[in-house]
Amino acid sequence: MKVNNICCIGAGYVGGPTMAVIAKKNPNIKVTIVDINEERIAAWNDEDVSKLPIYEPGLAEIVVETRGKNLFFSTEIDKAINESEMIFISVNTPTKTYGKGKGMAADLKYVELCARNIAEVAKTDKIVVEKSTLPVRTAQAIKSILHNTGNDVNFHILSNPEFLAEGTAVQDLLNPDRVLIGGESEDAIESLANIYGSWVSQERILRTNVWSSELSKLTANAFLAQRISSINAISELCEHTEANVNEVARAIGMDSRIGPKFLNASIGFGGSCFQKDILNLVYIARSYGLNAVADYWEQVIILNDHQKRRFSDNLISTLYNTVSGKKIAMLGWAFKKDTNDTRESAAIYVADHLLSEQANIAVYDPKVPAKKVYGDLNYLETRSDEENKDLVSTFDDPYEATKGAHAIAIMTEWDEFKAYDWKKIYDNMKKPAFIFDGRNILDKAEMNKIGFEYSSIGK
Ligand SMILES: NC(=O)c1ccc[n+]([C@@H]2O[C@H](COP(=O)([O-])OP(=O)(O)OC[C@H]3O[C@@H](n4cnc5c(N)ncnc54)[C@H](O)[C@@H]3O)[C@@H](O)[C@H]2O)c1
Repeated sequence: MKVNNICCIGAGYVGGPTMAVIAKKNPNIKVTIVDINEERIAAWNDEDVSKLPIYEPGLAEIVVETRGKNLFFSTEIDKAINESEMIFISVNTPTKTYGKGKGMAADLKYVELCARNIAEVAKTDKIVVEKSTLPVRTAQAIKSILHNTGNDVNFHILSNPEFLAEGTAVQDLLNPDRVLIGGESEDAIESLANIYGSWVSQERILRTNVWSSELSKLTANAFLAQRISSINAISELCEHTEANVNEVARAIGMDSRIGPKFLNASIGFGGSCFQKDILNLVYIARSYGLNAVADYWEQVIILNDHQKRRFSDNLISTLYNTVSGKKIAMLGWAFKKDTNDTRESAAIYVADHLLSEQANIAVYDPKVPAKKVYGDLNYLETRSDEENKDLVSTFDDPYEATKGAHAIAIMTEWDEFKAYDWKKIYDNMKKPAFIFDGRNILDKAEMNKIGFEYSSIGK
């Protein structure tokens, strides 16, 4: 099928950057990204690109280049579906918060709503592409909805999971390790392969059956998260044995069978995907009665929760077993550097624990606005919104955030943190001045020389 018009449902962290790159590389295809969230669409259409809803290095430039030419952001979902030969479903698939599978299974209600919407309004044949991360065999459900609700048009369903990492999304999209397309119809697969083919070499475009494609995405995230939990498990052992986790990581990473990436010990992984995708994998395994498989992967999450908890426990015990009434400055709130995404960020859980111990928290993050910080804490419902407002303050300046603090907790590995005037920060803090470096980004010797009591992970 010749594709002249693409519609993407979901203008989020995946839909936005992915479609912007597709539009840039395919100037003859009109790409329309639609969303039910009017505020988000308005932000994507803002003249001032510093106000785009998603921060990713290099993204604003591509939006400036393509927006209004062949890239459009709209809330007119039905119109965009009708106009397009190919429709990407890129909506959120969070962990269920109710009913069967609560806390484990993926909530597919948004995906199902999209499928029903497409089925109801489509008047011509469509290729429907699963871009969202979905449980293996979801395509079957989508197919059933499309074929039983529709206006007698043909639908081909493809699975095309997204492997971009936030913070490097544009680079990952421009130079993907691979593009994965799962499907039954060769014609549909080649239509999508042609779109990627405008900038990705054919050897990097993998064609598989739908189920392998769906399961590969969950598996990739499980393997990546497992590496983090593996090195974090070793970090705790290092702290008891005078081994240094950086040295261990370097030594094992030079083994070509292991490789050096994803071996940074830290406060634990966050982000919208790793936890929810592993929980989903565990749920699927259990639903087939594969308890050993489920237990194995669940341990990755258990270890990650343990790592966050032991960071805050260590902070409290080091501050003479109480943080009540003490000011703790948190540098970083995003789940990793170079993104404004805070979903499942370790900072949220560490802050929540410290707040339960009556600490006062001062937050500085270069890209996360105050509204998100309060929103994240209020969402947990551990205490009232008013109490969070009283106990937490946010700052636009790191020197102000750390003034008068008893301790600093580094939660995100933003590069700018390394370049601060740490002597100035030290001078303005309560003494002894503590740093808890949850990302191992500062130099211990240098910090000790200034006078800080410095501790990091795995050393
Ligand atoms: N964020 C990542 O790094 C990443 C990477 C790879 C894959 N994924 C997967 O991609 C999917 C999307 O993730 P995201 O981070 O972009 O989510 P997101 O929450 O940032 O964006 C999803 C968007 O879909 C919109 N939406 C929901 N239901 C809709 C409907 N019925 N009609 C129109 N719009 C609707 C929401 O308003 C929201 O703006 C998820 O399945 C996720 O697991 C995410």
